[in-house]
Amino acid sequence: MERRDFVSNMGLMLALACAGGLAACSRNSADMPGPGGGGAAFTADLNTELQNVGQFKIGGGAIVIRVAAGNTPSSFAALTSTCTHEGCTVASFNSTTNLIECNAPCGHGSRYTTTGAVQTGPATRALTQKTATISGNTLTVS
Ligand code: FES
Repeated sequence: MERRDFVSNMGLMLALACAGGLAACSRNSADMPGPGGGGAAFTADLNTELQNVGQFKIGGGAIVIRVAAGNTPSSFAALTSTCTHEGCTVASFNSTTNLIECNAPCGHGSRYTTTGAVQTGPATRALTQKTATISGNTLTVS
């Protein structure tokens, strides 16, 4: 193999590795935020989901957490699910600590409160709050 061919092949392999690494930074495409940091609205059926304080749902670039009883918008925290550290989708909400967690394999351990404030880094910027609306028994996050 000539030096030029070797360099060309290495460039192609590097490009493929970078593309694979970027794709691995989110659990699935439904969790990816849309352009401008927004995501597609997503809904929850309050007859079957988010019925108890501490339950959460992630999708459409958002995380919604039930923080109080009742089916009013103030009963829920709605935030972007994209970690401000390196853009991974946050993994879960820990109802014992009341913190949103950005964990392995993609995340690096940042923790956020239900207002989106950073509780533990490496993230330094808060999660953006989103809007929760309720119509009947359907909660919509946009
Ligand atoms: S991407 Fe969330 S802590 Fe690094």
